[in-house]
Amino acid sequence: MILLFACVANAAEAPPRVVAAWAAGPLEARVAFDRPIGPEVATSLVGTRIVFGDDVKAGDRYIPRKPGELPPGGPKAEARGSLRIAAARLIDGGRTLVLVTDPHSRDATYALNLPAPIIYNLRGVDVSWDNGKADAKPEWSGWWPVLNPSESMDARLKTPGRLTIKTLLTLPKGKATIRVNASGPTEVALGNEAAKADRGRVAEVTAEVDGGVIDLVIIATIDGKTPFSLDVTDSAAKPLDRGMLTLPWAPALPPNPSQTVVPPELLAGGDPAKGAILFKGDQAKCATCHKVRGEGGDVGPDLSDLVHRDRAWIYRNVAEPSATIHPDYVPYTVLLKDGRVLVGIVRAEGADAIRVFDTEAKSALVAKADIEELKPGSTSIMPVGLLGAVGEAGMKDLLAFLTKK
Ligand code: HEC
Repeated sequence: MILLFACVANAAEAPPRVVAAWAAGPLEARVAFDRPIGPEVATSLVGTRIVFGDDVKAGDRYIPRKPGELPPGGPKAEARGSLRIAAARLIDGGRTLVLVTDPHSRDATYALNLPAPIIYNLRGVDVSWDNGKADAKPEWSGWWPVLNPSESMDARLKTPGRLTIKTLLTLPKGKATIRVNASGPTEVALGNEAAKADRGRVAEVTAEVDGGVIDLVIIATIDGKTPFSLDVTDSAAKPLDRGMLTLPWAPALPPNPSQTVVPPELLAGGDPAKGAILFKGDQAKCATCHKVRGEGGDVGPDLSDLVHRDRAWIYRNVAEPSATIHPDYVPYTVLLKDGRVLVGIVRAEGADAIRVFDTEAKSALVAKADIEELKPGSTSIMPVGLLGAVGEAGMKDLLAFLTKK
């Protein structure tokens, strides 16, 4: 009796440990624990933010910046991004936390305060299961950290059916060979090349890698009799390193920085009062999308912190909006099941919907159940041609307004 009590007390003291954290799709992150966690953990996370960037590291604590605050890497650093957690719930008897978020728009490191910070990235494999019949729809989908799973890793691998495994492989340019040896019949596609193999045979496919990444799709059969196994290696029989696997929906790297030459006469002078009028006016429409010191729209980033930026940086962002896209404002193409297509910035709205903001600063609410696909784009929703609309003198006034202390 006493012993039992001691056990219980002990279990209550040691906090649940994080076993794994991953992005379960563009709009969802999951955290698995070694034992159930309290529902209050989920509730307390709603409305908070997950911070991301190339320089985000384990052990650091990340607090998203307030508008007007200097970016951590100094005035010249590209801004870090953040995703808002719009809803949270527990599944698996309280052992898995599901976080509904704004889209994971960059292949970067993501940090979540739980309150102890944990990090995850977009490495891994997307897997879905269907019953194997012709035109069957996936009945479940999930994430694996590696390509060589075991039944102990995923208990669902005992159910007869068909697995579709997708990942984006990072490989050196040139020819690449992938070999797949599975417990059942297998199909493998590497880029545009494909191969098939029967049970107990190796499916081998060789393809040309030109962009540094190539799609890998494996379709494997689970017969329910033989224990499921899948062994994926390169031509030298080496398993593929975890770092080479990126989730298939992960957005590509941002485009190259702007080469725009900034006219030197714009680097000083101008009338901030005239600039303020232009900013709010109908010609430039900046304020329909941007806030400065509390006034304006929310479609684009708050521009209050431009006092820390140099004028050339601001000029380039207006001249060529898509040269560098702020990580929080990556545009998406949203394909709907009814054939409609929306383009704009995507934000999570509650657990089951998203809102898409377009180039005219209008927004549409879309139920997640109606989405066919979410594709990240590389063309900013900030209009091009604004430079011409305001003219050189107008731009000088705008720069004076935006950099005014
Ligand atoms: C239709 C909405 C819209 C309008 C109008 C618009 N912008 Fe933008 N702007 C955006 C969005 C969205 C972004 C973020 C994506 C990107 O980096 O291109 C952005 C980015 C910027 C940035 C870079 C900010 C950063 O932190 O990366 C600057 C500077 C900027 N806009 C200035 C302006 C100015 C000045 C005007 C008016 C002449 C203007 N914008 C008009 C939507 C708009």
